Amino acid sequence: MIRHLLSAADLDADNATLVLDTAAEMANLAGREVKKLPTLRGRTVVNLFYEDSTRTRISFEAAAKRLSADVINFSAKGSSVSKGESLKDTALTLQAMGADAVVIRHSASGAPHRLATWVDGSVLNAGDGTHEHPTQALLDAYTMRARLGRLDGLAVAIVGDVLHSRVARSNVLLLHTLGARVTLVGPPTLLPVGVDAWPAKTSYDLDAVLPDADVVMMLRVQRERMDDAYFPSVREYSRRYGLDAVRMRKLPEHAIVMHPGPMNRGMEISPDVADSPRSTIVEQVANGVSVRMAVLYLLLGGQHK
Ligand code: NCD
Repeated sequence: MIRHLLSAADLDADNATLVLDTAAEMANLAGREVKKLPTLRGRTVVNLFYEDSTRTRISFEAAAKRLSADVINFSAKGSSVSKGESLKDTALTLQAMGADAVVIRHSASGAPHRLATWVDGSVLNAGDGTHEHPTQALLDAYTMRARLGRLDGLAVAIVGDVLHSRVARSNVLLLHTLGARVTLVGPPTLLPVGVDAWPAKTSYDLDAVLPDADVVMMLRVQRERMDDAYFPSVREYSRRYGLDAVRMRKLPEHAIVMHPGPMNRGMEISPDVADSPRSTIVEQVANGVSVRMAVLYLLLGGQHK
């Protein structure tokens, strides 16, 4: 197994499949009364969150605790980061405390890669700027495989604010590795420059893509990362790229609807679609814990044996 998980591209098909299979075993634990395994007893996992997060932070914390690791939660607010301490000095502090794994979310793309050069433990990227979010891609792949039985050959449409989405970037890489066919759909202003070089097709026309999709993954419109107008109005955006009940009928019967959360209900996804039986949004959150347990187990469990 690899030492760090910085990018979805760090995983080849065998390793990615091993993570998904291990996560399936971890998921069996969730149904038991005692949800804990002793695997990481005595090991320290630090959650280093420089950017807001609900699901990912709680999910990593639950995952580490279910493996009996000691968990230290560090958020930039209330720490010496607000006194101007650099990432490097924070890293040296973690190193001095003997962290076996550091889970980092940072607004700067590439921050986890820098951190990996300063600490001896494993570094897990929990989202860096607009760059990558590999564990999200793994939990998404896990959810698709659990619902549809396979990944190879699946047609996956990823829709909306691809430009600012680390979720889209990591999903394209991982799904390509696992044999799925991805189409990125959005207005031209929200598809990144150079997207032609990604292993995915692109389209500006959601209605044309839906009838052939096995999976449609809606992305949050990331208004906090936008300083210009990328589309005329919320209404216009929803009309062309939002998924509502009428549009959902264009999907094949078996197709599922995904969203990484947090959602802008009423913008990229309507409340009735988000809460429909075809939506896997709550499952994605539950699967996130099993997948992160698998990643921590595989990255840390193999060492010191
Ligand atoms: C995503 C993120 O933070 O990158 N959310 C998540 O981790 N579940 C997506 C987003 O913020 O839109």
